[in-house]
This record gives sequence, structure tokens and C-alpha cells, in this order.
Amino acid sequence: MASRLNVGIIGLGTMGRCIVSGLIESKKLSRNQIGFTTRQSGGKAAEELGLTACKDNLDLVSRCDTVILAVKPQNLAEVLTEIGPKVKPNQTLISIVASASTEALEGHLAGRVPVIRAMPNTPALVREGVTALCAGKYGKEEDWARASALFEPLGKVVRVDEKHMNAVTGLSGCGPAYVYVILESLTDAGIKVGLPRELSTQLAAQTVLGAVKMLMETGRHPAALKDDVTTPAGCTIDGLMELEEGKLRVTLIKAVVQATLRAATLSSV
Ligand SMILES: NC(=O)c1ccc[n+]([C@@H]2O[C@H](COP(=O)([O-])OP(=O)(O)OC[C@H]3O[C@@H](n4cnc5c(N)ncnc54)[C@H](OP(=O)(O)O)[C@@H]3O)[C@@H](O)[C@H]2O)c1
Repeated sequence: MASRLNVGIIGLGTMGRCIVSGLIESKKLSRNQIGFTTRQSGGKAAEELGLTACKDNLDLVSRCDTVILAVKPQNLAEVLTEIGPKVKPNQTLISIVASASTEALEGHLAGRVPVIRAMPNTPALVREGVTALCAGKYGKEEDWARASALFEPLGKVVRVDEKHMNAVTGLSGCGPAYVYVILESLTDAGIKVGLPRELSTQLAAQTVLGAVKMLMETGRHPAALKDDVTTPAGCTIDGLMELEEGKLRVTLIKAVVQATLRAATLSSV
């Protein structure tokens, strides 16, 4: 008989791998307690990660207490149509799929299955991610606990009202990409003013890291921290004036707004 598994993950791409590597490294689960399926890349993933490859999605659902959906939004409908009738109320279904509401997920399930919707982000790979969680109408405390235990090894976990999930997607789900563009630009800026690339990259990255730590550890407002750097008639104020003229603030706000609007449209369920 096939062995019983604790967690089964459907989809082992960028985010799926983040989640399972966090679980393994934090020793929350061992490799043989985690099953997975992919569409095609399964053999390679099993070899690389040493996880249990399930025969197919139905096999996975029949063997796991917690089922995680980590496929792209466009593949969600086909997966739910396949597994929906088989997931049982004593299992927890966790979806990290952007845009898919708990209500839409529940609509594909036969019974009163607890559903948790999660939005992690890629810094989970280095355990500095943030995952927002919300529960569907049958989610109980034990389901919150199961979901929190899965995402805590990846960084911070916050509970949010589901109405905020698309905004969370636009801010923290997509946010690492915005920060990488800023980092790339700062590095290029260093090169423009004559710094070697490696040094420029290091200065840009450590500056962002340090600024983030200052914010988090002091709890002060970013504007107050900015003021500390800005000497009257000094050079920082000249740099800040350029940022204002280039509309950096409104551009970042618009990036989050657009990504939030898009997040509302992705789901195939
Ligand atoms: N990337 C991010 O920053 C991020 C952040 C938060 C949330 N998310 C959400 O996470 C989800 C996954 O994103 P990703 O970037 O990890 O995607 P990805 O790298 O494209 O991985 C998707 C995985 O799903 C598998 N798959 C597709 N159809 C399947 C099926 N019918 N049965 C079993 N497995 C199937 C694919 O298998 P093959 O490899 O064989 O094709 C692949 O392993 C998305 O819904 C996204 O909204 C992503």
C-alpha cells in the first residue's frame, strides 16, 4: 500500500520548491512526508529534492492531510475539476494561486472542506518571505495552524481579510520585482559615477538591506529616517529632488495599483 504523507503539493515550480525546501530545512517535515506532482518535470524534481513523487493528483489527494495547490492560475481549473470531488472535510486545502478566491475554490469541492488561501513571495527562498493567509468559510483554528506551520519557516506570516488578498498580491507578492529594479538602477547609477560593478552592487544591496533594518528595528516612520540622511544644503536633498521630478513615489504607487487590478483578473476558476 502507498505510504501516508503529511503534505502533498500539486505543482513544484518556483514557489512550490520554496515551500518544500523551507519545510525540509526547518525540519518541520522530512522528505518522505512530502508528496508532489507536476505536469512533466516530476522525475527531475524527485531526483533533485528527494521527495515522494505521487502517481498523479488523485493519488496525492488520497494520501495527504494537507493538499497545497501551487500551479499557475491558468492551470487551476483543470486541477480542481480533477481533484475537487475527492478532497475530504478532514483535509486542509491550501492554495497559493494568485487571484483564486476561497469561494471559487470551495465551489469546486464536494464537501465542507477547509480552504486556506495564501500569498507568499519569492524571498521565501532565503527565509525572508512574507505570507498572507486568509481562510474560507469552513476554515477552523487547526487549519490556520496547519497553514501557519507550513509558511513560518519561510519568513513572516500575517492573517488578512480576504478582501485584501489582491492588494497583498500587488504589494508583497509582486514587490520583490520592484525592489530588484530599484537595486539594478542603483547599481547602474554607481557605474555611471565611476564605481566598479561589483562594488556598486555590494553598496546598493547593503544600503537597501540596512535601510530596511533601520525601519524594522527602530519602528520609525520612513520620512523621519529619510530626514536623518538629509543635511540642509547637502547632497541628499539634490538626489531627492531628482526622485521627485522623476515621480518615483507615484510610479511605485501606480505599479502596486496596476498589479492589484491585474491580480483580480487572473483566476481561471
Ligand atoms: N512566483 C511568485 O513570485 C509567486 C508568488 C506568490 C504566489 N505565486 C503563485 O504560485 C503559483 C505557482 O507559481 P510558480 O511561479 O511557482 O509557477 P511555475 O514555476 O510555473 O510552476 C507551476 C508548477 O505547476 C505544475 N503543474 C501545472 N499543471 C499541473 C497539473 N495539472 N498537475 C500537476 N502539476 C501541474 C508545473 O509542472 P511542470 O513543471 O511539469 O510544467 C509546475 O511544476 C501561481 O499560481 C502564482 O500565482 C507565485
